Amino acid sequence: MAENNSDLMSICKRRGFIWPSFELYGGVAGMYDYGPLGCALRNNIVEVWRSIYKGREGFVEIDSETVGPREAFKASGHVDEFSDYITYCKGCQAPFRADHMVKEFYENPDVLGPRELEEAFVKHGVTCPECGGELGPVEEFNLMFKTNIGPGSARVGYLRPETAQGIFVNFPNLYRYNREKLPLGVIQTGRSYRNEIAPRQGMIRMREFNQMEVELFVDPEDKDWARFHEIENEVIELVPNTGEETISITVGEAVEKGIIANRVLAYFVYTTKQLLVKLGVDPARLRFRQHLEDEMAHYAADCWDAEALLSFGWTEITGIADRGCWDLTRHAQFSGTELTHFKKFDEPREVEMEKVKAKHKALGPAFKGKAKAIATAMESMSPSDVKDGKLVIDVDGERIELTEEFFEVAMVKEKITGERVVPHVIEPSHGLDRIFYTVLEHSFDYDAEKDYAVLRLKPQVAPVKVGVFPLMEKDGLDDMARSIYDRVHSHRMEAYYDGSGTIGKRYARMDEVGTPWCITVDYDSLEDGTVTLRDRDTSEQVRIPSEKASEILGKLLDGMAFSEIGI
Ligand code: GLY
Repeated sequence: MAENNSDLMSICKRRGFIWPSFELYGGVAGMYDYGPLGCALRNNIVEVWRSIYKGREGFVEIDSETVGPREAFKASGHVDEFSDYITYCKGCQAPFRADHMVKEFYENPDVLGPRELEEAFVKHGVTCPECGGELGPVEEFNLMFKTNIGPGSARVGYLRPETAQGIFVNFPNLYRYNREKLPLGVIQTGRSYRNEIAPRQGMIRMREFNQMEVELFVDPEDKDWARFHEIENEVIELVPNTGEETISITVGEAVEKGIIANRVLAYFVYTTKQLLVKLGVDPARLRFRQHLEDEMAHYAADCWDAEALLSFGWTEITGIADRGCWDLTRHAQFSGTELTHFKKFDEPREVEMEKVKAKHKALGPAFKGKAKAIATAMESMSPSDVKDGKLVIDVDGERIELTEEFFEVAMVKEKITGERVVPHVIEPSHGLDRIFYTVLEHSFDYDAEKDYAVLRLKPQVAPVKVGVFPLMEKDGLDDMARSIYDRVHSHRMEAYYDGSGTIGKRYARMDEVGTPWCITVDYDSLEDGTVTLRDRDTSEQVRIPSEKASEILGKLLDGMAFSEIGI
């Protein structure tokens, strides 16, 4: 394991995983670029996530805009609620995240309000870490990047702070696409933006970051999941918000005891564990912590964070939230569009309800030819539309005010086939960059015998699957190695040809970037057509026929061991 993250970060930079952005111009805090190996690793992580949600759960994927109009983020609550507390040094004017200034004194400083934070500065003698100056008042700082859509400032827009909103605003389209059925599962990956006050901890807090988000719309009265039985006996490590202890418990028991609120939330907490472990997060350094009541985001009714133990301590890498009906209710309210699901009853039900009934005998003589249209318009109104005994309707563009002489509010019996409900949303939201970094840190190993670093990446996510080496770049060994490279290299089986340096150095170069297998062509290969296949983690070496290299590597990538393939 890395003593600290500096060895790992130096490999990441030197070998082309990640680079600080705009380094030519001194860099920008909280911004990183993915190099060739990083890009491949990140894409492979996305593919595993996609294969679980699209392949196993049957969810659909969309790709929505990254810039959105103010109205959408006013509705989502991000304009008014999405902020951190900021304080500026009264001396050097440096900005700081106020809760971070007191984190050594409080378990959860992010639940403190502005006045409490100011008092905490005084009580604990906290001053500016840059110049020792006094810290100023604590204020709210909205984390969204603001922009204008089109020229001028008439239309304010924001870079999206979460990909989720692109799914919520498309609910009518998605619901129609799903033939008006629930559950409806939608995934989206892409960039989101948060103008962090003081990003530290490298890739853990980036201003422009990548998310893999899942929004599952469910019937609010049915929070079960058909596949729950498949995982109910699996064990999971939980830190409930009722205490500090980590408990190991089966998923089924966690729901029965009310620790996780419902089966669908529990199912996706466990799915998140499966995903993260499949990607290479160490299960011994993974736990699920429930948010405290006052720690929850403005939209969440319940939230569990998948936390990984990193060199910085326990760090959130995924949040699994029950967003309830927050988003659809708010977007319906702000857009004036009903965002509901029609839930059909098993049998039609007779219900008694208040309705506006037209008094036809009075309407006829008073309104003559218009009476029928007026009666229809009145009966489509709700009793709550009656104000001070009057009903105002619109018929053919004409506004007509009617007194109780023409209508009554009466109890009537009706058969209804269903009701409209606002779906609830379960959201596993994955921080892709944080998962990327966790996978690297948990895969990092130091081989003391060989005296070099090895990334023990899972083959499915490793950016390069196989190194192909000629023992020497002469006597036809290089031609044979290149022909093997050409045959095995593909999008799924990325290969790397390396002909320079000793074989030991070439193995080391591949081990350092996590390549699970290497193939070496030597003089025996020219005689009998066999090559050496070497495993990164066991250093085991076997001879295989070169023409079977692709087939054998394919089986290894599918998870088979050397012995299972008969080599
Ligand atoms: N959609 C949840 C988040 O971005 O944190």
